[in-house]
Amino acid sequence: MAFGARATATLALLVLAFDVLTGVSAAALANVVNSCTRPNVAALTFNDGPFIDALKLLDAHGVKGTFFVDGNDLVHRKGNKCIYKGDRVTALQTAFNQGHQIASHSWSHTNLTDLDPDQVREEMVKAHDAIQDITGASTAYIRPPFYQYDDQVREVAAAVNHTIVLRDFDSRHLADVTVQGQMDHYHQVISQNPKPSNILVLQHDLKKSPVHQVVKYAIQQLQGAGYELVTLAECLGERPYHRVGEPRHTTLNSTACKKGSL
Ligand SMILES: *[C@@H]1O[C@H](CO)[C@@H](O)[C@H](O)[C@H]1NC(C)=O
Ligand SMILES: *[C@@H]1O[C@H](CO)[C@@H](O)[C@H](O)[C@H]1NC(C)=O
Ligand SMILES: *[C@@H]1O[C@H](CO)[C@@H](O)[C@H](O)[C@H]1NC(C)=O
Repeated sequence: MAFGARATATLALLVLAFDVLTGVSAAALANVVNSCTRPNVAALTFNDGPFIDALKLLDAHGVKGTFFVDGNDLVHRKGNKCIYKGDRVTALQTAFNQGHQIASHSWSHTNLTDLDPDQVREEMVKAHDAIQDITGASTAYIRPPFYQYDDQVREVAAAVNHTIVLRDFDSRHLADVTVQGQMDHYHQVISQNPKPSNILVLQHDLKKSPVHQVVKYAIQQLQGAGYELVTLAECLGERPYHRVGEPRHTTLNSTACKKGSL
């Protein structure tokens, strides 16, 4: 939905204008994206995966999605699977090789606004480097955990060349997390008149089997409403990665995965 982007751009211009007027030169702030820019597209994005089930479903429909992956989320990820562990490496490489976009969701899934700049930087660099180690791709995007960011987070993101990504449609109502509730929410959005020109979707809870129903429904509904399902980068008309090389090494990096290490 284009309104958010315009608001963000306007805000950025105001900040810039303020700097010009006051003569104070602020550090560069990363762009914050909360909607697609191309018309008639929808980007399905997922946090914390990729999960093999989701990949199978997307592939069965010939749809490319975007996965924001964390490095080592000790708090929210059951079984505490570090990104360098075997099945996560396999899932990540499978997703990447099938053409899904891989982006960062930070290293440990912490509220970045609670950290000092060095810690924010480490959260971003470690996740970026792990993704690059495993896929060969240098990601250009980060979705901050809990959507929490401030100017300090934006400064660090700019310094490490990440664009900050939010979303303009969340499949889950806060008070309504049922499968039917999620489906109704999709239906509501695309039944609007006029319907949004584009949609940047956050789809939740991929690990749970009912999500199959929701994702399948979402794909059918969105395509039926005339949206082309594309990756985040495609919906923005940008490139997903700064560069893509060979994976560096894909064996367990036990230093990075050490418990308690940021
Ligand atoms: C993140 O931290 C900020 C600053 O301490 C706080 O205002 C905010 O509520 C926190 N958000 C979450 C989701 O923890
Ligand atoms: C930063 O991103 C831009 C746009 O993708 C790219 O051209 C540039 O090479 C990147 N710089 C670094 C240091 O990765
Ligand atoms: C393992 O990860 C750490 C922290 O991210 C990094 O400094 C180190 O270079 C990595 N080691 C290897 C062998 O890649």
